[in-house]
Amino acid sequence: MSEPLLDVSGLRVTFPRAGGVRQVVAGISYAIAAGRTLGVVGESGCGKSVTSLALMGLVPSPGRVEGSIRFEGRELVGQSAAAWRRLRGEAIAMVFQEPMTALNPVMTVGRQIAEALVLHRDGVGWREGEDQAIGLLEAVGINSPKDRARAYPHQLSGGMRQRAVIAMALACEPKLLIADEPTTALDVTIQAQILDLMLDLQDRIGMAIQFISHNLAVVSEIAHEIIVMYAGRIVERAPAEALFATPLHPYTQGLIATLPDPAHRVARLPVIAGGVPDLDGDGGCRFADRCPRADAGCRAAEPEAVELAPGHVVACFKAGQ
Ligand SMILES: Nc1ncnc2c1ncn2[C@@H]1O[C@H](COP(=O)(O)OP(=O)(O)O)[C@@H](O)[C@H]1O
Ligand SMILES: [Mg+2]
Repeated sequence: MSEPLLDVSGLRVTFPRAGGVRQVVAGISYAIAAGRTLGVVGESGCGKSVTSLALMGLVPSPGRVEGSIRFEGRELVGQSAAAWRRLRGEAIAMVFQEPMTALNPVMTVGRQIAEALVLHRDGVGWREGEDQAIGLLEAVGINSPKDRARAYPHQLSGGMRQRAVIAMALACEPKLLIADEPTTALDVTIQAQILDLMLDLQDRIGMAIQFISHNLAVVSEIAHEIIVMYAGRIVERAPAEALFATPLHPYTQGLIATLPDPAHRVARLPVIAGGVPDLDGDGGCRFADRCPRADAGCRAAEPEAVELAPGHVVACFKAGQ
């Protein structure tokens, strides 16, 4: 098999705290092939954003990243700050939930996109960059791109700002786009348009996407493969169709049961009660306290991830029983 574009193995992220460390990403493994979309789903606080920051080399100090992140066969964990900067410019781009964090409020949108082009594409000068910026704004579906290029971020709507950020991310023609809740702040119509846009761009430039959301319905619109995170771990990973057809982890089953789309609904399970536990866990399954099937064994040891069907991995003692 050819090497995947991104190969994450045993990734851990810890932050120091009084008397020890807090493990917020607890040894996760997955891969993404070129041109494919991986969806990452899980409720707030489960470690989705910290995982994406780790992929960009942006985990804030004093956080510690361990394990392996291989990109095109090259190990990224432990590489120099300069190497991370090059990679972020040339190969991996990221879109966040709040577009204003990625935009400079005192620079026109066109100028910002042009800047990305000048910095990251060989031989592109400012003049050409500004022309290409208009083309990129058009490509992300912004009307009157020439006028919008002259606008400042606050003069655009939220949906348009997010399109502008996507245009900026695309300026470096990334091989991997990390989209962390890119549509969460937008209303549903705009959300659907942004998803369509990302799929369309993926078709055109062949980039891989890691698409993160707390909302499984949104992830299901775009992902070929889905990982479900819970309290810093991957509890289930499967091709999207398999995840909906035969969800194996009780947490995933609960998520699917709450989806509004009847086509994606299985027999109703008890609503998932309780809150996310302390991320460090106490040695047992982290989901045990909220799990309708948990028994003493589940509280005694943490389940390992097991591949129960091709590409379908689950970390649950009860799965497959
Ligand atoms: N800079 C930080 N220092 C300490 N803890 C952090 C930091 N950033 C995130 N965390 C903790 O890591 C956990 C996972 O956060 P995050 O990845 O943002 O969750 P998600 O994106 O899934 O909502 C949370 O408990 C959060 O409080
Ligand atoms: Mg997040």
